[in-house]
Amino acid sequence: MADVTSSPVGRPTRGTTGTNRLRRIDRWIARHPVLRRVEDPLVIDLGFGASAVTPLELLARLRSQRPDAEVLGLEIDPERVARAREQSAGIEGVSFARGGFEVPVPGARRPAVIRALNVLRQYDESDVAAAWALMCARLQPDGILVEGTCDEIGRVATWIEVGADAVPRSLTISLRLAELDSPAIAAERLPKALIHRNVAGERVHEFVASLDREWTRAAAVAPFGPAHRWRTAMHALADAGWPLRRRERWRLGEVEVAWDAVEPR
Ligand SMILES: C[S@@+](CC[C@H](N)C(=O)[O-])C[C@H]1O[C@@H](n2cnc3c(N)ncnc32)[C@H](O)[C@@H]1O
Repeated sequence: MADVTSSPVGRPTRGTTGTNRLRRIDRWIARHPVLRRVEDPLVIDLGFGASAVTPLELLARLRSQRPDAEVLGLEIDPERVARAREQSAGIEGVSFARGGFEVPVPGARRPAVIRALNVLRQYDESDVAAAWALMCARLQPDGILVEGTCDEIGRVATWIEVGADAVPRSLTISLRLAELDSPAIAAERLPKALIHRNVAGERVHEFVASLDREWTRAAAVAPFGPAHRWRTAMHALADAGWPLRRRERWRLGEVEVAWDAVEPR
């Protein structure tokens, strides 16, 4: 990872993106308590990719909860910034600029949320801590970094919530339950900090295996629908001692687990 303060920190990577790809992450952010609490609801979409589509969708979903939310899309590739500006001309509440992990924001403003989706997956695992530290240093004191990965059409998504102190708090796995064969599919899309840790002896491996086991055991209630089956599996995980959070979101095919239960050894 380049570390030159006069130019954006990081390196351009493939710009793959797509309509509705990040809907699961957007909805989770829109409902996050931090968005209700902050005075300045500025949200950064870092590494938005080859088009303005996901920052614009993020803005629309945030505004359903926080009508004064603003999105600043940052991208290390200047051509992508220019294209996004053209695509968003005349739309209020969204702007675009060149920037990297140093998260340049005009004036003295600090973001409440930084979303960095499908950005770090093209870096090395050893780059993650420094990238988190740089991004988190820019947050409001109560702000969060949401860093993760998803598949091309957003049916499998995982992300880590990191606090302004750069300490990770939780891992969320969010899956489209209709036609879901195995939740272990999430292992292919874990954030960079965890994807190489899906091996015996690591906590995240045990979590994904437990999730898969309980989903299989809950097959008996499958006739009541996949959401019922997922909730049954979630109750079993909680009963087994996994520290699950935000249980009200289980119905969406989500599970959020405290970081210390999955962090690398
Ligand atoms: C695969 S695309 C992801 C696009 C979008 N976030 C999504 O998930 O659909 C990754 C983008 O991140 C950009 N990128 C990589 N490193 C970056 C950095 N340090 N700062 C800003 N953008 C970066 C790349 O140029 C690329 O356009």
